[in-house]
Amino acid sequence: MPIAVDTAPVEQPDSSFKKRFTERTTPPPELPPFFYADRFDKAHFNDWRDELATKGYTVVKAIPTEKALEYRERAFQWMESFPLGFDRNDVKTWKNEHLPVHIKGGMFHGYGFYDISQLWDIRCEDGVIDAFAKVWGTDELITSFDGGSIMLPNRVDVMDSGKWEHMDQSHYRRGFYCCQGLVNLNNNGPDDGGLMVLEGSSTLVEEYFDTHGRNSYKSWGPFDWFGFTEEQQQWFFDRGCKWVKVCAEPGDLILWDSRTMHYNVRPKGDRDRVCTYICMAPAHLLTEEDRQLRVECFEQSKGTTHVPFAAIYARDFEPVKRSDGSPCPHDTGKPKNPPVLNDRMAKLVGIKPY
Ligand SMILES: [Fe+2]
Repeated sequence: MPIAVDTAPVEQPDSSFKKRFTERTTPPPELPPFFYADRFDKAHFNDWRDELATKGYTVVKAIPTEKALEYRERAFQWMESFPLGFDRNDVKTWKNEHLPVHIKGGMFHGYGFYDISQLWDIRCEDGVIDAFAKVWGTDELITSFDGGSIMLPNRVDVMDSGKWEHMDQSHYRRGFYCCQGLVNLNNNGPDDGGLMVLEGSSTLVEEYFDTHGRNSYKSWGPFDWFGFTEEQQQWFFDRGCKWVKVCAEPGDLILWDSRTMHYNVRPKGDRDRVCTYICMAPAHLLTEEDRQLRVECFEQSKGTTHVPFAAIYARDFEPVKRSDGSPCPHDTGKPKNPPVLNDRMAKLVGIKPY
């Protein structure tokens, strides 16, 4: 199976970004049957999992509001900890020159961000783990080393890099494969930026590709990624699918089936958007080879793909580049506030067996 890092490319104007997509024509690979492929074929759970099965996404209360807002506070403290002049109370400093390097108006991928202590604290929250335990039917889980977003409103220096309507699952796969999650850390209404989902698309993608074929696809890299054109989306619109902005309260965990078409939007109002991305999956799906790769990624503070149990891969460290092209001197590849390894983390990484 091809493996590739699932981090987005450096922010580019729309036209340049589109050029980064590569048309690929490959024979469908042989993929082994997946143990959980039929888990969300039917809505028979009588709880929020039924919405995950039918609509392709759902919202679960995972962290108490006050605690979630504390995590938001820590996110701002993290941005202010760099000697770049960012001040949350001074909108004049809400610019690239005063912020750690990011893409899409606030997605961070440098500075060992995947490994900062507050991300690990969130991954270890009971409510987060309980939700993923219900998704999979086991609480013996491993976590992805995903990042997060801190999107400030009213930004004037963020280029439009397009919508990127996509799903984070190869169109060669059949059935359920991965459940993605986003822990929302601020009030998040219709104008506050965040996740857009094409409701109902998860139940139709297989039929779409059975009808239209699987031999050609466009991707900027990852195997478990498929970008949809507007023409392709029309087939889903014709079958009743609609784009929905998922709104959430602080501490809500938004879950979506990786077959659900989605993209994100920046804030249009006056409120910041703060969230972390988390995917958890059963530890037993991990091979020994991938377990070792995960431990290596953890030790080096590297991010991984969304899927925690397969195609483990991360780029070698290279400092993020500031807008003038120079490497950011503050990016050492290690977090400024590293986590302290505990028992739960060790299990979520794969260091310690269940
Ligand atoms: Fe995605």
